[in-house]
Amino acid sequence: MEKTNIAIVGLGTVGSGVARLLLDHGDRTARHAGRTMWLRKAVVRDIEKAKQRMTLPDGVLTDSLDDVINDEEITVVAQLIGGLEPARTIMLKLMESGKDIVTANKALLAEHGPELFDRARQLGRSIAFEASVAGGIPIIANISQCLSANQLQSLEGILNGTSNFIVSQMDEKGSDYADVVAEAQRLGYAEADPTMDVDGTDAAQKLAILAHLAFGATINWNDIPRIGIDGLDPADLRYARELGYRIKLLAVANLTEAGLELSVAPTLLKIGTPLAEVRNAFNAIRAVGDAVGPVFYHGLGAGQMPTASAVVADLIDTAVGRTKLTFQTLEYFCGENPPRAIQRD
Ligand code: HSE
Repeated sequence: MEKTNIAIVGLGTVGSGVARLLLDHGDRTARHAGRTMWLRKAVVRDIEKAKQRMTLPDGVLTDSLDDVINDEEITVVAQLIGGLEPARTIMLKLMESGKDIVTANKALLAEHGPELFDRARQLGRSIAFEASVAGGIPIIANISQCLSANQLQSLEGILNGTSNFIVSQMDEKGSDYADVVAEAQRLGYAEADPTMDVDGTDAAQKLAILAHLAFGATINWNDIPRIGIDGLDPADLRYARELGYRIKLLAVANLTEAGLELSVAPTLLKIGTPLAEVRNAFNAIRAVGDAVGPVFYHGLGAGQMPTASAVVADLIDTAVGRTKLTFQTLEYFCGENPPRAIQRD
């Protein structure tokens, strides 16, 4: 059977989950791609630390990106380091050396997406990013492909697993805010700097990515009005419950006559309604399309294996050329043919 040689850059929580799936379940990747996904290199900063995290076959671990760049047999790279730099420079170098990219880094895409996607187009490369929004929920594929017959009218989402875990634990168990933040870090839900989770930044970055795909709007995530859960008092949750509501960090995009309205804020949701019942690190998205009506997606939005699930699916899609479909959506919206009723900046 043919194989696609894969490299992983960054062997943190998500990277080690991806390595585990590739090493333990090559049969699954063969089933869907008709070819084996072969983990050939994993680039880390500190080899000894990586060895403590997991055991990889001989010769896979390296601390040199050049081992990937100069290896022409590696065609697809899962770029799984967070933050903006050196992640941006590494992604550009990898594409320039002929590699297609899979990433979970929403901060990088929300900040430098236009530059990175333009470069990918110039080089004839692809960037797949299913894992960048809502972890294991296939929301990127759904919005850019499965719902493509629709003009989407609205998206409402719980897009940050850490915030949802925190408010759930505080609401249901009366847990202390600082203790739950620490627990979210221990469970691998939180960003390296959990401020990004609790102040609404992470949800705004994900909303900017979804809104670009759904509505074609070019959005600076930093312009989205946002309030995090960091200002919530346990009494807010208690009073809300007494009145029959839960508070959730809700990201909203609404297409109105005037254009696109976007926001991220703690929001009162009536107990018993689907979004109000999304608990712990789960995420959910309610989308409304003009043909399909409302659709609802629910699943784990943070954590090692749900995120790795999305990354490996993207690796398979890239190996068989399916990621090009998401690219077509991006190209349409970046081209001269934006849909009506959208204000673009
Ligand atoms: N820190 C993110 C979250 C991880 O809690 O949702 C997944 O993007």
